[in-house]
Amino acid sequence: MQHDFWQARWESDQLGFHLAFVHPILKRNLASFGLQAGARIFLPLCGKTLDIGWLLDQGYRVVGAELSEIAVAQLFEELKVEPVIDEWAGGRRWQHAGLTVYQGDIFQLTAQDLRPVEIGPIDLVYDRAALVALPPAMRPAYAEQILALSDAAPQLLITFEYDPAEKDGPPFPVLPAEIARHYASRYTLEELSRKDVLQSSLNFREAGVTRFVEVAWRLSPKQSA
Ligand SMILES: C[S@@+](CC[C@H](N)C(=O)[O-])C[C@H]1O[C@@H](n2cnc3c(N)ncnc32)[C@H](O)[C@@H]1O
Repeated sequence: MQHDFWQARWESDQLGFHLAFVHPILKRNLASFGLQAGARIFLPLCGKTLDIGWLLDQGYRVVGAELSEIAVAQLFEELKVEPVIDEWAGGRRWQHAGLTVYQGDIFQLTAQDLRPVEIGPIDLVYDRAALVALPPAMRPAYAEQILALSDAAPQLLITFEYDPAEKDGPPFPVLPAEIARHYASRYTLEELSRKDVLQSSLNFREAGVTRFVEVAWRLSPKQSA
């Protein structure tokens, strides 16, 4: 089961996805979204990414959703801040200043959960290693959930492209046609960059993958009719 897989990864500290630096795609592209100071950025499946601390340092508010309690505890510990913890229907809610993390299953989260703490509306969804972390069968429901939680806020989305015959996910390859299937009815999709990152991806190199391309996307909400 999906939850057991991720809980086991955190329990055994198998965190190949966790980067020791702020993601360059985030740094390079965030300004182009034109967010106001204090804007709310939603990070689904956030882990303990260093991107959160960087976003807070830039003056934004951050809302995360993360299954693993270990991940959330380590996130706050590494940020060196003391959380206030209470409950929500799906787990525990951890808060400090501009940061709120809903620990639990993102599929249990509702847009209403986000309101009482003055978190909603969401101004930007930053999806790094979230959509691509989920197997194909879960991705349509995930995309629906992101649309519902954020009311189709703009997105900075990072995906990977590689030949699935060469290695099993996660991360799974997610091709442009699939992104369009999930999101084109609500967003205009714009490819921001693509780069073969095989050289810096040890797991993929060792598995014999021949091409491992990281693609950044801007998803801009379409005007509703
Ligand atoms: C590949 S990691 C990416 C973490 C983070 N975005 C990063 O860039 O480091 C995927 C994360 O999603 C979490 N996760 C998996 N399924 C989830 C779910 N249903 N609800 C909330 N979090 C989930 C896992 O525990 C894991 O930390």
